[in-house]
Amino acid sequence: MAGYFENKVAVVTGAASGLGLGISENLLAKGARAVFMGDLKEENLNRESERLNEQFPGRVHPVLTDVTKLEQVQGLIEAASSFDGHLDFVFNNAGMGMTLPTEQITFDIWKFIIDLNVMGVIYGTYTAIPVMREQGFGHIVNTGSVAGLLPIPYQAVYAASKGAVIRMTESLQYELETEGLNFSVFCPSNVRTGIFDGLTPPPDSISVDEAVEYVFQEIEKKKLVIVLPESARKFDDLFRENREEFDRFARQIAAERRENYRTKGTYY
Ligand SMILES: NC(=O)c1ccc[n+]([C@@H]2O[C@H](COP(=O)([O-])OP(=O)(O)OC[C@H]3O[C@@H](n4cnc5c(N)ncnc54)[C@H](O)[C@@H]3O)[C@@H](O)[C@H]2O)c1
Repeated sequence: MAGYFENKVAVVTGAASGLGLGISENLLAKGARAVFMGDLKEENLNRESERLNEQFPGRVHPVLTDVTKLEQVQGLIEAASSFDGHLDFVFNNAGMGMTLPTEQITFDIWKFIIDLNVMGVIYGTYTAIPVMREQGFGHIVNTGSVAGLLPIPYQAVYAASKGAVIRMTESLQYELETEGLNFSVFCPSNVRTGIFDGLTPPPDSISVDEAVEYVFQEIEKKKLVIVLPESARKFDDLFRENREEFDRFARQIAAERRENYRTKGTYY
């Protein structure tokens, strides 16, 4: 029996680094026929797609894409769906973290993060849905975050954006599963990507390879909400099962971040 990713056509956004690059590489390694890699950083996109093309000739398709621009996302999805007449996977992954105290969060920052983390995912999802409905299959995988599942102090903007992505993805699953569509949202805590450049990654952080391997295993099982790593799953259980203890923990994190910021100018 052919593997779940074998001979498939996929779109990945934020594909030039970190999780998006890991997802692209893993799709190719698992036999995907074509991976359309969208990113707005041209130099990184060219470098990484050329590297992957040497390993997987003819299956790598870089498309310079800013996910905050609807017409560019439509162009990316159209390029993939017209390539071989089917669109099997869309990974709406491009996004950015944000840890800031309230007094520093301007409305421009709110808008920037919502445009990127929420509208970028909405553009990809709602452009792919009609194509997948028409063909009667397809799997959309959105990148959430543990910050969208749980309240995390000093991450109000980020939590709001990822919470929206998680609830939207879950709602669509129940609405469209009878038409052959599948949805997943994966919610990592700390994965050692560029977001930790110049910082010491937390001890429970995992590598991109570890994260992607787990995510793919769960996508194949068509799991709707994927939480990783193990420490984040425990945190998520605590939130749902023992709110009082979770509240104490969240207040402790808030106090630590406040103190770190006051003394070191950084939260970590
Ligand atoms: N690394 C973590 O610990 C972690 C945890 C939770 C969630 N996430 C989420 O994972 C996703 C990927 O993050 P990452 O950690 O791999 O970061 P990363 O910075 O390594 O990769 C993000 C990629 O997205 C691209 N990008 C940024 N804005 C874009 C835009 N407007 N259009 C197209 N591409 C754009 C960047 O150029 C970059 O290549 C994000 O949605 C992030 O919120 C990451």
